[in-house]
Amino acid sequence: MDKLIIEGARKLQGEIRISGAKNAALPLIAATLLAPGWHVIHNVPDLRDTRTILALLETLGAEWKREGSTLLVKTDSLNNFEASYELVKTMRASILVLGPLLARMGKARVSLPGGCAIGARPIDFHLLGLKKMGASLDLEDGYVTASVKKKLSGGTIYFDVPSVTGTENILMAAVLAKGETVIKNAAREPEITNLVDMLISMGARIAGKDTDRLTINGVKSLKPAEITTIPDRIETGTYLIAVGTAGGEANLTHCNPSHLPSLIEKLRAAGLTVKDSGNSIYVSRPAKVQSIDIKTQPYPGFPTDLQAQLMALMSLATGLSVITEAIFENRFMHVAELKRMGAEIKINGNSAIVKGIAQLKGAQVMATDLRASASLVVAGLAAHGVTEISRIYHLERGYEDMAGKLKALGARVRKEKE
Ligand code: EPZ
Repeated sequence: MDKLIIEGARKLQGEIRISGAKNAALPLIAATLLAPGWHVIHNVPDLRDTRTILALLETLGAEWKREGSTLLVKTDSLNNFEASYELVKTMRASILVLGPLLARMGKARVSLPGGCAIGARPIDFHLLGLKKMGASLDLEDGYVTASVKKKLSGGTIYFDVPSVTGTENILMAAVLAKGETVIKNAAREPEITNLVDMLISMGARIAGKDTDRLTINGVKSLKPAEITTIPDRIETGTYLIAVGTAGGEANLTHCNPSHLPSLIEKLRAAGLTVKDSGNSIYVSRPAKVQSIDIKTQPYPGFPTDLQAQLMALMSLATGLSVITEAIFENRFMHVAELKRMGAEIKINGNSAIVKGIAQLKGAQVMATDLRASASLVVAGLAAHGVTEISRIYHLERGYEDMAGKLKALGARVRKEKE
């Protein structure tokens, strides 16, 4: 396994290009299962997770080729409908093949994604929705086998909480179902809108885009898509926070500032200069960063995927910050590691109280999940001394060429074999 070595306490300076969004690319790639022919997906980031879902599609019989950041995927000869435990255990988002496989082939056998570092992350809403659409489901030896005699039929699906991949799975199942499906309390993340745009480009009939109520009228068949993956708002937010924490200034290009309404407000309230112009953002850190409070919420609220990174920034702010994680039950794995770097943080239920200090100190720390690792990188960039982050395969799941982008901002970063 590799580790990342960071020599911290250096201001960042420069310009980097934001990649396509991991959490948009994954459902877009899964949606190619819905129609034969060559699908064209632009701006696809080259990440561990996108390579994993392409490997999964290969086991189902799909072909693909990459031309730069454009991916071509063909699913004409699907000859398998099972997503194996080996693949699913490395990436829970593999569950995204369940809906499209069921819609295209009338059956799917997907390993239940076990828990993960940040919580139990059940998929009950996915399964309830498919059952409502006429699928019969059996759970045995860790797999869910879904099948439907003829075609899925439309229905009204209500999500207790707006599940992102739950909404995506039901969307992909509904586009080829008989009749009308209404999804109530649907998730409204920009990644859902990207998927809706792809499905409509394939001939799907979907109304309610960008709202919490999606209405889908099933069609007989769909044609291959051409779509562009939206920029990664979590990668963008991670670099905005990195500059706010380590100091300096940067320009982030090929991003979409309108996808980060809550974070940008919060960073401005903390005293950072954040200027957005269409598809780029300029950010710089002031002499003093003020503590602010946040509570994670579904979009457009503060993203849970930026909570850990913001905590690193608040560790060096002035005052007390209350950070409440309201989406996942165990998303404070980064706290113990940040405390090893000198951060003063107390956990109280699902809130962390962060007392800002003057300096963090470099240390050997361990990555536990994707965004916790990003938080440790942010802290390492600001810390005095050297920070060694082990198990950085977590990072490589969701950040394209992070070491290269940080070097372009003047950071002293290198990868080493553990
Ligand atoms: C998506 O996960 C993202 N992953 C996550 O990003 C992100 O943190 C999360 O949405 C929230 O924004 C992808 O898009 C691939 P949810 P997802 O279903 O869909 C509960 C990252 O770092 N729930 O919206 O799995 C669940 O436990 C990853 O890139 C159920 O109870 O999240 C959670 O409390 C981490 N039953 C809440 O809903 C279900 O059937 C929101 O989860 C589904 C979800």
